[in-house]
Amino acid sequence: MTKEFEYVRSITDFVPETAIILGSGLGNIADMCKNTTVIDYKDIPNMPVSTAPSHKGRLILGTLNGKNVVIMQGRIHIYEGYLPKDILIPIRLMKDLGAKNIIITNAAGGINRKYKVGDLMMIKDHISCFIDSCLIGKNDEHYGVRFPDMSDIYNADIRQKVEKIAIKNNIKLYEGVFVQVKGPQFESPAEIRMLEKLGADAVGMSTAIDAIAAKHCGFNVCGITLISNMACGISENPLSSDEVFLAGQQAAPKFQKLILEIIKEL
Ligand code: HPA
Repeated sequence: MTKEFEYVRSITDFVPETAIILGSGLGNIADMCKNTTVIDYKDIPNMPVSTAPSHKGRLILGTLNGKNVVIMQGRIHIYEGYLPKDILIPIRLMKDLGAKNIIITNAAGGINRKYKVGDLMMIKDHISCFIDSCLIGKNDEHYGVRFPDMSDIYNADIRQKVEKIAIKNNIKLYEGVFVQVKGPQFESPAEIRMLEKLGADAVGMSTAIDAIAAKHCGFNVCGITLISNMACGISENPLSSDEVFLAGQQAAPKFQKLILEIIKEL
């Protein structure tokens, strides 16, 4: 077993069912967790530590809506200087701890012109080919195969369930294609026009590699995106990270409700 797993197990024998990665400005849901064990990433051997604003960098184990969860409050990004493969460490740690499902959340720019700031989009598929794969390098067969299938990354059964949950709770939820870029600069208008032509509905600087790492090691993956701004060129305003954070805060109640209901149903 890995050093990171041994460290967490030296603190708690808690077994989570569902893993959750909280994106920019979406960290509040962690405060609703009960009976928690909180571990700073910096204390976990090998664990990459998030440096992005509003990413707290804590692993939280506890119960949320009656279910055992492990929450990554803050994640790492390629633009921080991390390599895509660094994402394997926290994802595989959560798998080793016992989690079977993973809910990956993020804030992203809306490319689809139907979308508005504050809308939620469930990810039905992604485009990750603008970034290197997190699986480049020697494959660890213990976690998954060398050439993993990616035809159903975002689990179709979960997507059906989430659609029903959204309808039942009167939450407007789009389903769309997410594209991950490296950042840290926001895209140019020409890049957004290109991504639109390629079929992307939303763009962000995380998530697709997290989803690949998770799918590879056998997680049932669910991806939920908050449209924190309309993408460059679609929005008339210059983009800022403050806007992204603020949209997260404003949409928090609706977003939290959806996540809590999903956890209950998984
Ligand atoms: N582009 C890329 N990443 C993002 C955006 C965006 O417009 N908004 C939030 N994350």
